[in-house]
Amino acid sequence: MRMLITGGVGFIGTNATLYFQKKGWTVHLVDNFSRYGVKHNARLLKNLTPDVQITHQDVGATDKYLAQLKKASVILHLAGQTAVTTSIAQPQKDFTANLQGSFRLLEAVRQHNPQAIVIYASTNKVYGNLSQHQLKKDEKNKRYEDTCHPDGIGEKEQLNFISPYGCSKGAVDQYMQDYARTYNLRTVVFRQSCIYGPFQMGVEDQGWVAHFAKQFLLGRLLTVYGNGYQVRDLLFVDDLLQAYDLAIKQIDKTAGHAFNIGGGKENSYSLLQVIETLEKKIGKSIPVDFQKSRLGDQKYFVSDNRLLSSTLGWQTRTPYSTGMDRLLLWQKNQRTIL
Ligand SMILES: NC(=O)c1ccc[n+]([C@@H]2O[C@H](COP(=O)([O-])OP(=O)(O)OC[C@H]3O[C@@H](n4cnc5c(N)ncnc54)[C@H](O)[C@@H]3O)[C@@H](O)[C@H]2O)c1
Repeated sequence: MRMLITGGVGFIGTNATLYFQKKGWTVHLVDNFSRYGVKHNARLLKNLTPDVQITHQDVGATDKYLAQLKKASVILHLAGQTAVTTSIAQPQKDFTANLQGSFRLLEAVRQHNPQAIVIYASTNKVYGNLSQHQLKKDEKNKRYEDTCHPDGIGEKEQLNFISPYGCSKGAVDQYMQDYARTYNLRTVVFRQSCIYGPFQMGVEDQGWVAHFAKQFLLGRLLTVYGNGYQVRDLLFVDDLLQAYDLAIKQIDKTAGHAFNIGGGKENSYSLLQVIETLEKKIGKSIPVDFQKSRLGDQKYFVSDNRLLSSTLGWQTRTPYSTGMDRLLLWQKNQRTIL
């Protein structure tokens, strides 16, 4: 079985390559190497799985990898510009990478390989900043609570695209579902919460858990945007890959659908709680600078995973503490490339 992974040397792509190769898939990667640090992932991948093929190209240049696209039974579409901040500074770049690139990919699938399964990595940002939700400030635990949504945010939540990133990812999320409706393509959308783990090149703009951990390891200043009470449900990358795997195996149930996926309530932490965890695990404190919160930043997002669980039998497996240990171990071993 052949899989094409766009954004293949990125964080999720590198983990996906290792995961699916181990399961016997032949994996081909497409990536334009635009993400900071991903050339190191490419090098690590070449060492770990020497037979992996990488096409160094833009995702929108489908003619440059058409032969691989035609042969693939699954296309895992991860390529894209991933930071809200960058999308605001350079909306054209965001549009080209995310919307135009994804549209060209979808069209190439429709014309040349309509039987392929397409898994799309969408985002919880399609729900906007959820400012209409009433939140309680839990001073003791240093976090917000959304008492009206005890099970988290479900797929019925109103879509609300904020920021160019929200618009480009949200538009592709909709195109994916529409190409299933209109052209019978076998597309599946995952609206991902905060994913973390090894091979994540966290920077201030995106990949905050890895960025926080890196600042701790290197003993550098950490800037927090907002008061740090913002809550995210953290999902270890292996658990996400297991959901992709199940969605492929049960494509009759998943094609044409969008699923929220995250660590859920039991793996939800505020920025300040993550800082506390790192202080304990690394055994030191670092200076923290608080700045104004950023556009579109959700104060609270916890994914309601029940649709995914009931459809696929999926559930989170990696507890937060274990996942953090695995991220830190990887970062300690890669200190020179952080
Ligand atoms: N990591 C998360 O927490 C998270 C959450 C929600 C959604 N997502 C989505 O999941 C996908 C993968 O995220 P990630 O965390 O692995 O990010 P990442 O930045 O590590 O990986 C994305 C990869 O895409 C490549 N890329 C960017 N633009 C490209 C283009 N035009 N053509 C070809 N390659 C291009 C980059 O070089 C990078 O290797 C993204 O689409 C992202 O929006 C991630």
